[in-house]
Amino acid sequence: MTITTELSLTQLIDTCSQRLSTVFSHYLDNIASPDLESAMKYTLSNGGKRIRPLLIYATGQIFNAPLENLDIPASSVELIHTYSLIHDDLPAMDNADLRRGKATCHKAYDEGIAILAGDALHTLAMQMMASHPALLKAERRLQMMSVLSKACGPYGMAAGQALDITVMNDTSLSAELLKKIYHLKTGCLLSACIELGRLAGEDDNDINQAALKRFGDIIGFAFQIQDDILDIETCTEALGKRQGTDQVNHKITYPKMHGLNHAKAKVSSLYEQALEEINYLGQRAQLLRALIGHMLYRNN
Ligand code: IPE
Ligand code: IPE
Ligand code: MG
Ligand code: MG
Ligand code: MG
Repeated sequence: MTITTELSLTQLIDTCSQRLSTVFSHYLDNIASPDLESAMKYTLSNGGKRIRPLLIYATGQIFNAPLENLDIPASSVELIHTYSLIHDDLPAMDNADLRRGKATCHKAYDEGIAILAGDALHTLAMQMMASHPALLKAERRLQMMSVLSKACGPYGMAAGQALDITVMNDTSLSAELLKKIYHLKTGCLLSACIELGRLAGEDDNDINQAALKRFGDIIGFAFQIQDDILDIETCTEALGKRQGTDQVNHKITYPKMHGLNHAKAKVSSLYEQALEEINYLGQRAQLLRALIGHMLYRNN
């Protein structure tokens, strides 16, 4: 079964939520440590926006990817993203006590279990990529694992997060390095989602790959700027995270460096640029267009 072009964004959000729940419930059972199982369930069922899986489904739809094939990268990426949030919130990193409107994992459990829940979610993502049942060929799975691990390891998110906690409170931070950190910590994984959706649809066209890579990088940058704007402007209740955490941690974010108005204008111009990149895909990319509007102009 594939996603029809008539599917609305609201319907896609519903479909995505149901499909992820089904896959996750299959794996979050019979884990030898009840604490670990409970912490993993707690964080995964905790009301995230599921933006990354949505990007995978919406891109997959452009290339007629079967839903069963899309479920694999969609679930894997959400596991990795969730692990990254658990670790990001730890006292040694951003020291946050609220996430998605609830106590962060290390507050609801303890630091040891939170670290291990992160580790377990990360590894489970790779297990799913390799072995979750679907007609996805072994070669494609390998390609996907390569894309995903590159995006979240030392050449992507892990390096970005390391730079974030070491240099992002340095007042001499350059605009260029800030952009690079955003790319590594956030952009790489979001961009990988676009590539994973394309791969699930068996697309082998270099022009699509190059255009979608530019598109992914643009929306990744805009997504993190918007996250920083929300940290400044949105109240804790609406955000589900503690407002002002970046300021408490003395982070030199994009709005802090360039000003709030410039940051907002930047999100808008990146949104326009992203639309430009996929203009050539015509009607087929309508769902993806709607999704990036939803994700870049979000309010939490
Ligand atoms: C938050 O990501 C972390 C960033 C990379 C900015 P999301 O805003 O997608 O978090 P959830 O999954 O919806 O909670
Ligand atoms: C998070 O950036 C990036 C990750 C890779 C998790 P932030 O630290 O700004 O994310 P939030 O605001 O805590 O969600
Ligand atoms: Mg952080
Ligand atoms: Mg954080
Ligand atoms: Mg933030």
